[in-house]
Amino acid sequence: MIKINFNIEIDEKKTTEILKDIARDKMGGWMELPKKYDMGEFARIKEAAKKINEESEYLVCIGIGGSYLGHRAIIEALRPQSGTKIVYAGNSLSKRELDYALEEVGDHDFSINVISKSGTTLEPAIAFGAFKEKLIEKYGSKEAASRIYATTDAKKGALHDEAVAEGYTMFVVPENIGGRYSVLTAVGLLPLAVAGVDIDKLLEGAAGAVEGVVEPAVKYAWMRYKLGKKGYDTEVFASFEPSTMYFNEWLKQLFGESEGKNKQGIFPASVVYSTDLHSLGQFMQDGRRNLFETIIDFPTDELNAKAVQAVRLAHTEGGIPVLNMGVPSFDEKGFGELIYFFELACAVSAKLFGVNPFDQPGVENYKNELKKIMAEE
Ligand code: PA5
Repeated sequence: MIKINFNIEIDEKKTTEILKDIARDKMGGWMELPKKYDMGEFARIKEAAKKINEESEYLVCIGIGGSYLGHRAIIEALRPQSGTKIVYAGNSLSKRELDYALEEVGDHDFSINVISKSGTTLEPAIAFGAFKEKLIEKYGSKEAASRIYATTDAKKGALHDEAVAEGYTMFVVPENIGGRYSVLTAVGLLPLAVAGVDIDKLLEGAAGAVEGVVEPAVKYAWMRYKLGKKGYDTEVFASFEPSTMYFNEWLKQLFGESEGKNKQGIFPASVVYSTDLHSLGQFMQDGRRNLFETIIDFPTDELNAKAVQAVRLAHTEGGIPVLNMGVPSFDEKGFGELIYFFELACAVSAKLFGVNPFDQPGVENYKNELKKIMAEE
């Protein structure tokens, strides 16, 4: 299990109340999910992944935010070699990026996994339109529909309605699980299985964490809350494995969207060492002292491990509180555990700051403003 390098007095009564609160929340479905996964759906995911592997060289994964970052984080970190190649689209409004993705797929056989809980988000909707056109041009409408996999709400939304009308294979984003807590649902599991990640092991790691990481996750949540109250308003997630850059991105989204509301929260930032020791390293060592550092300490090679040790010592000397998360393994099981650990810690921490971990009113503001501007044109 994940090991933390610090101890902290916590308010047990408050913690128990918070944990109960999260479990009772209408968006708390992720809490027990790894232990209670619907095995019927799990089998359907594997079956769909097998079909995609057999008939496609590329799977175009379309989605943004919580419908994208989690699976990309694991795929980039573990770099599985056995599956279909994944191309990402719909995670920005850049026409240039979309063209690059279309060019990359080129004349190769491909399928699409379009992922959007609301089914109305603009970025994925635009990319889906472009790739669907390409798919229909290549295979005709009927075969194109059989190559589209839609992961969305069970009952509503534009994507849901289209999937039903066109007969796409559908997977559900559970009503009681929000985007950034959804990586261990079909949102993440289908692309992960297609890419060749062992999703049994991933869920096994997460299921073990449901009880196994409560204590360290809660202590970490209290630690960041207390540091935040002392004026440490920035948390820098540090990893020494370059392939975990997207895991940092997932962490930033998880904490940023869950905690940054009502003028509360800790700003999440990230570095990858030793690369960033030659850029942000100077600031970390000697800049403004408003930040603390959370090292995601994966098992690594001997030289890299020495760098971890050196950074811990140097940054502590430099006056930065350094929190260390020792991750037991750099594999599916380790990532399953880590994902659950951070989801739980983040929800508890947001509650300590007195905000709702599961909504994102600020993101909705941007979505609404953009819709209005586009409607005016
Ligand atoms: O965590 C969240 O809820 C958000 O980041 C959403 O995942 C993101 O805005 C995409 O939304 P949707 O899946 O509805 O397209």
